[in-house]
Amino acid sequence: MMLSKSGLRGWLARSAALMTLWSLASEAVAFTGEKWNMTQGVTAISHEVYKLHMAAFYVCCVIGFIVFGAIIYSIINHRRSKHPKPADFHESTLVEIIWTAIPFVILIGLAIPAAGTLIKMEDTRNSELTVKVTGFQWKWQYEYLGEGVSFYSTLSQESNVARQLGSGIDVNTVPNYLVDVDNELVLPVGKKIRFVITANDVIHAWWVPALAIKKDAIPGYVNEVWTKIDVPGTYRGVCAELCGRDHGFMPIVVRAVSEAEYKTWLEGKKKGAGVEVAPAAAAPVAAPAAEAALPVAAPAAAKELSKDELVAAGEKVYTANCAACHQATGAGLPPNFPALKGDKVANGPAEGVIKQVLNGKNLMPPFKQLSDQDIAAVASYVRTSWGNKGSVVTAEAVAAARK
Ligand code: CUA
Repeated sequence: MMLSKSGLRGWLARSAALMTLWSLASEAVAFTGEKWNMTQGVTAISHEVYKLHMAAFYVCCVIGFIVFGAIIYSIINHRRSKHPKPADFHESTLVEIIWTAIPFVILIGLAIPAAGTLIKMEDTRNSELTVKVTGFQWKWQYEYLGEGVSFYSTLSQESNVARQLGSGIDVNTVPNYLVDVDNELVLPVGKKIRFVITANDVIHAWWVPALAIKKDAIPGYVNEVWTKIDVPGTYRGVCAELCGRDHGFMPIVVRAVSEAEYKTWLEGKKKGAGVEVAPAAAAPVAAPAAEAALPVAAPAAAKELSKDELVAAGEKVYTANCAACHQATGAGLPPNFPALKGDKVANGPAEGVIKQVLNGKNLMPPFKQLSDQDIAAVASYVRTSWGNKGSVVTAEAVAAARK
């Protein structure tokens, strides 16, 4: 009587422990599934990729279970204390054929559906819109081919200011720290969009997990890929190829919107002539984060700026394009990135600075893509900051130097 009672108690206790373990384990699986598993994405292709990934994962689980099961079984049941005399059998053609055939069948079984998806991924025919994506150190350029809309997408001003050494800004207070950009790539849902991907300087990679796209951006080479987004939303990505010191600071933001919203956005961009001019409002130099507004699209050279306005606008252009190498303090990072503070060119004739910004020099890439107004502003900022004694530069002078 006593025995059976304690036996029952033991059984109950074991069952309870097992059930607790089981619920903990399944919760862990659900949790990691959400948090650590590959995203299912928002396109038909991304769903296919997800299914392939899960299929391969389950196959791996079964193989792992069988292989480790056999190993553990052998360790326990064929240990030396149980079998002091080892077996001395040798090779078995049958077993070798089986363990060659099974992996072969598994690989073919996985390869057939994977190849089908790969072929679909490569098929960029009948696309309704083409966007050229160009990687730069360290930003992305998006050109809507045939639409005359083209712009650069750089790390958001807010993150960029906060990430500087000694910025004094608590990065936990910066919303979407390091994953926001100034200009998002806006795309319509339900349309087949083709991307042609290349780079201007070194190899980058354009990676947006929700679209199941990860393509190398290689200078002098064009890679093609496409997408058709099903769900409106904001999808983030990053550069996925180590491309230099600011590799970690060239995020991607894709905003998928309805067709109508996309049309409105595109028209707005066209009216802005695709030229971005930093806002003219004078920003307090000591607190650039407070003025972290997005650049306002406005026709270039729409108005004459006062010297202070020009320099303030120049500081924004500088923070976005130059500070990574030449530093916010103008001290540079010698020997590769020279100081601008007290620099000969910066303090010399205006033409020298304009030429260098337009054409680049050594490690410095050309910045022709900036508007005349932006180049005039940034040159003025560099020439009048940190004790430099250069003159301000006008947009006309930049336009003249381009010829
Ligand atoms: Cu561009 Cu990493």
